[in-house]
Amino acid sequence: MNKRIQKICCIGAGYVGGPTMAVIADKCPDIIVNIVDINENKINQWNNNNLDLLPIYEPGLADIVGRCRGINLHFSNLIEENIRDADIIFISVNTPTKKNGIGKGKASDLRWVEESARQVAKFSSGHTIVVEKSTLPVRTAEVIKSILEAEVLHSKEKIPKRTFDVLSNPEFLAEGSAIKDLEKPDRVLIGGENHDAINCLRDIYRRWVPESKILITNVWSSELAKLTANAFLAQRISSINSISALCENTGADVREVARAIGSDKRIGSEFLDSGPGFGGSCFKKDILNLVYLSEYFGLPEVADFWEGVVRLNNWHQHRISKLITKKLFGTLSGKKIAILGFAFKANTNDTRESSAIQICRDLIEEGAILFIHDPKVDENQISKDLNLLNENSQKRNWFKVESINKIFFEADAAVILTEWQQYSQINWGKAALSMRSPAWVFDTRSIVNPENVVKSNLNLWRIGDGYNKFI
Ligand code: NAD
Ligand code: UGA
Repeated sequence: MNKRIQKICCIGAGYVGGPTMAVIADKCPDIIVNIVDINENKINQWNNNNLDLLPIYEPGLADIVGRCRGINLHFSNLIEENIRDADIIFISVNTPTKKNGIGKGKASDLRWVEESARQVAKFSSGHTIVVEKSTLPVRTAEVIKSILEAEVLHSKEKIPKRTFDVLSNPEFLAEGSAIKDLEKPDRVLIGGENHDAINCLRDIYRRWVPESKILITNVWSSELAKLTANAFLAQRISSINSISALCENTGADVREVARAIGSDKRIGSEFLDSGPGFGGSCFKKDILNLVYLSEYFGLPEVADFWEGVVRLNNWHQHRISKLITKKLFGTLSGKKIAILGFAFKANTNDTRESSAIQICRDLIEEGAILFIHDPKVDENQISKDLNLLNENSQKRNWFKVESINKIFFEADAAVILTEWQQYSQINWGKAALSMRSPAWVFDTRSIVNPENVVKSNLNLWRIGDGYNKFI
């Protein structure tokens, strides 16, 4: 018979742990959900009375936290106690690309996962179901299991004996729409061997997810399916971005091409928006992980195929900064450029791997002075990302601008890098009056109304527009 789950512990209060557990708490009022993190500051932010100051900006999240926090949803640094009390533990820690050692630059760095498994091995009691929520290389469950079993084997305690089941339950939410994705998922994937453990986890999701959407597979298929899903999604973006470059050289329009191919049911219309290149913490790292695994298993052709998706993305980001330089007479020295958007997509404050980082660095390298606006990303984050010290005020090459109204003053160009809704409503007539002629608008997200820009006597470059018909 299935064990009734009364207490959940989630290790990692980040972009996945926070929203995922908030939704579980909201949907399962009879279950206590404890989220723990080693980062004290982050936990304080999650516990802030002002819900506008949660560490993650995600539409709908603050409402749920407001409803459940302090009732059946708790954020804390008390890792030992919360692991000890839990019936089921979700590991939702970061798994970035390794920076050193074997697999450097490609393989996932599993040190935080290993540390979490060791914490569970040390502090858990009775029977515990351990769920891999983080995105992990195939066969990581084996590593987690051996850490857990080794601890029990070497443990001096006799009774109660501790036992474990390990399940894979990857997360498919996208940032910016996380709450919607969690409340109405396309599918929930559970990989495992033990039916009782699988049913315990299934029982949680069953409260709001239709049974037909809960897919059960073996552990390894579940782990690999997560990497593959991200690789396929990223591959679509590199595909359409490669076509945007071809459109610009042939007179075709990438939006028309996307609409034409997307009407084919076999291709589908989503994820065909050409942009400045994909960003986010996962696409690149998950594909590189797939590349590493393929190489490890002696499949260089498979590795090369997937590495091409990342290569194209890097090339595409540089392509955009190069064309901005070219249009501004081949030099950016001392020119003021307004950067609209720094987050890797709209509706998030996350900048990890944002294309804006590479493009801004390239522009600064060419001598430009950037004035950067983003409604949710703060100056500290931009400073860390650009890794350029602004200490010497004489030589500052970028500034954060809080009000979009002031950003165009004496600017030679405005570059839209994130599709924030407010950028589609800019009054270009007014902006043009304060820009330095001949001024440019570079729209990498296809969100401006071209007529409004052009009639304001501004030059417009838009991604994937053949023969630059707006010039
Ligand atoms: P994150 O960096 O936002 O959060 C991870 C958190 O884990 C951090 O707050 C960190 O302090 C904490 N942590 C690390 N080691 C710990 C330990 N030993 N004990 C307690 N806390 C610890 O990362 P994220 O974006 O939430 O991603 C987590 C995982 O989920 C990754 O594997 C990622 O690939 C995957 N994923 C992310 C997304 C996304 O949209 N961000 C979507 C699906 C899957
Ligand atoms: C992505 C996946 O969509 C999620 O299913 C997955 O769970 C998650 O990665 C993960 O594993 O982390 P996310 O990175 O949050 O989610 O956001 P996406 O909407 O996928 O966007 C990724 C990047 O692709 C963004 O930079 C976005 O602007 C870009 N993109 C997306 C395009 O350029 N064109 C599109 O048509 C769609």
